[in-house]
Amino acid sequence: SVVTDYDSSIQPTATKPIVLGFSQLGSESTWREANTTSIKEAAKEANITLIMTNAEQDQKKQFEAIRSFIRRDVDIIAIAPVVQTGWEGILKEARAADIPVIIIDRSLHVNDSSLYVTFIGSNFYEEGVKASKYMIDRMRHQPGKIRIAELQGTVSSTPSINRGLGFWQMLEAHPRFQITQSKPGNFTQSGGKQAMQEFLRQPRKDWPQVLFAHNDDMAIGAIEAIQEVGLKPGSDIIIISVDGTRRAFEQMVQGHINAVVECNPLLGPLVMQAAKEIMAGRTLPKRMITPEDIFTQELAARELENRKY
Ligand code: AHR
Repeated sequence: SVVTDYDSSIQPTATKPIVLGFSQLGSESTWREANTTSIKEAAKEANITLIMTNAEQDQKKQFEAIRSFIRRDVDIIAIAPVVQTGWEGILKEARAADIPVIIIDRSLHVNDSSLYVTFIGSNFYEEGVKASKYMIDRMRHQPGKIRIAELQGTVSSTPSINRGLGFWQMLEAHPRFQITQSKPGNFTQSGGKQAMQEFLRQPRKDWPQVLFAHNDDMAIGAIEAIQEVGLKPGSDIIIISVDGTRRAFEQMVQGHINAVVECNPLLGPLVMQAAKEIMAGRTLPKRMITPEDIFTQELAARELENRKY
């Protein structure tokens, strides 16, 4: 379910289908695949014509896609921004063409927030806080310094920046918890595995006791690297990740991941509803947040069958 403050019964006034150009940032993770599927299915369901492009985690490709949407004179543009900054110019181009813009999944930084209508997505900072709180509690009986390795997502992306920030800020009051290793893994399984292999090339005394992975795919890659050196993921190294994919739940059931902070990719219905509202001339809230949970191993088996992605 999703928090909104508008009436879901409202239908578009236009008789011909709304045309929505969507610049998806990539296909790097299980979360992203679920997000893409959700957008496609919801567009079909809402009778909205969807033109979707995949930027393969490249901001320049997103600019090209947005310019192509402007040339085609779409009704609305939706963007899932790969990185946080650098959007002012392209959003001004969309405004000059009189095309409203919806930001989804990752927020962006612009001086003029009227350049987009609404931002629909998760609170990444809170996700980092939840991960940190779980870890502090989980490690409370372990004395002394706690070495933490952090697998960051795509450099300069909002989820990576804000999950990191939420996580670190919670540690300020607990100085015995220290991030001793940190590397980006680009939100991919292979990136996570490679970064973890590098962490484990350090002397054994420096190996982490905790791994915080900014997404499930990187955690799963890291698990492979941990098993390769003969350690048990989930007990020799406590693992916390973000997203809540079925694959991560399966790893929790096997005892390899200790906790997963949920990040909801199923934004399609809300995006289509927002598109209809905009076309009907309604005002939308500037921010729509998807409520999310945290799951631990104890709940994993029961919850596995309920996972939708
Ligand atoms: O922006 C959401 C993040 O992007 C997800 O956590 C991650 O899996 C994806 O690649």
